[in-house]
Amino acid sequence: MVDGKLTRSTILGLIVLACSACGAEPSEPRARQPEGWDEEIAPARAVDLDPEPNVLRVELEAKLAEVEWLPGTKTEAWTYDGTVPGPLLRAQVGDRVIVDFTNNLPDPTTIHWHGLRIPAAMDGAPGHSQPAIQPGATFTYDFVVPDAGTFWYHPHVASAAQVGDGLYAPLIVDDPAEPAAFGDEVVLVLSDVALAPDGRLEPPDASGDLATVFGREGNVLLVNGKVRPTLRARPGLPLRLRVVNAAKSRYYQLTLPGHGFTRIGGDGGLLSEPIGEPLPVVIPGERADLVLVPQGRDGELLTVWWHAYDRGFGSTFNRPDEPLFDIRLEGEPAPTPALPELTRTIEPLDGAGATLVDIKLTLDSGTPLALGINGQPSWESEPVQARVGETQLWTVSNTMDWAHPFHLHGFFFQVLDRVPLEWKDTVDVPVNGTVRLLARYDDRPGMWMFHCHILDHADAGMMGMLQVGPGTGQAGHTEH
Ligand code: C2O
Ligand code: CU
Repeated sequence: MVDGKLTRSTILGLIVLACSACGAEPSEPRARQPEGWDEEIAPARAVDLDPEPNVLRVELEAKLAEVEWLPGTKTEAWTYDGTVPGPLLRAQVGDRVIVDFTNNLPDPTTIHWHGLRIPAAMDGAPGHSQPAIQPGATFTYDFVVPDAGTFWYHPHVASAAQVGDGLYAPLIVDDPAEPAAFGDEVVLVLSDVALAPDGRLEPPDASGDLATVFGREGNVLLVNGKVRPTLRARPGLPLRLRVVNAAKSRYYQLTLPGHGFTRIGGDGGLLSEPIGEPLPVVIPGERADLVLVPQGRDGELLTVWWHAYDRGFGSTFNRPDEPLFDIRLEGEPAPTPALPELTRTIEPLDGAGATLVDIKLTLDSGTPLALGINGQPSWESEPVQARVGETQLWTVSNTMDWAHPFHLHGFFFQVLDRVPLEWKDTVDVPVNGTVRLLARYDDRPGMWMFHCHILDHADAGMMGMLQVGPGTGQAGHTEH
């Protein structure tokens, strides 16, 4: 205001101020979750040691630690910072993440940042991006997180054993531009552990080759490292469940009697449209961003169950549903707000002129047993060649009696013939099935792994390398 005169923009400003102060209508305060509603279930969160707003710096230690999974019985688990799962890392798109990591395990290890499009040198692929970090040694991971979404981190040395014994943790990248109001958020890391009755971890090679070919599943199901934890929730209020499957072999199919789920996102962040999923399936390595509206009376207990998913021979036989976690309803049903619109556009990659690559997931049942890709176990295979800027169309086919969760490091791909289109890094290749994936390699040359995320399979050879060389890809292709 100058000289007491109201300019047009000042008047507009005053109107806006007045309206936001009084509220559009005299409504009741928004219904909320009960006090401490997620305390029992929420994972531990890392402390940011850097005061800069766009830097997340954490210290992380891998070590053996005692946890209590069977009531009254201690288990010595493999942990990040003493907890299973390890601490949640949470950053915003474009933030720099620095992890000062110390390996205090008895064995070498690395950390792989599953789903993050970061430089190869930070990818945690032992022997390719870095030597394995020896016991007592340190390594600093330092990268910028380019994409919003639900991710996770885990070791890449003797993965079936190290992940199976407790080394995994969630990582979430927020985008302040995304609509925030999908629901009250809960991060759910699903896993299982194989425990003997005395609480000790079963040896990772228990039951030999047959178990390797099936893919070992644990006998105790954990949600954020707890057996059947409870979430307290107001009926009618949407919950946003950010689910990570960190189990080394187990597929999760979720069911909540009388309810359905709405999937709004997956591996590579939000979808462009929501999909109703009565029984969402989350395969090993994969993530799902689900909205659930719990319905019922005050005091009612709802249970979310694991329901066997047919991932091949013997995987559903004699497998009753098992409880994962409970939702205790508290309070009178609240009105359910409409799901915010998903405003993301996902452009289909142009597959014209893409290089064709054939990937067959194979079993050589000789001695020693070897799984492989195109008949070669990982230790004998030659890398798939590519160049920065190139687009490739991979046809991944399965010749085994078990399905395989196929994962590519470092790049997202699009699965052809699926709607809605989404960015993924882990996809199911069903028994006798084929999936076609389109990927374009942005400017991060290096050696990248791809493998089955049934970690027994990966360790037994079902893994290959993609070598992205510098260079110019085909004309007309721009980076995404
Ligand atoms: Cu979670 Cu090599 O992967
Ligand atoms: Cu597999």
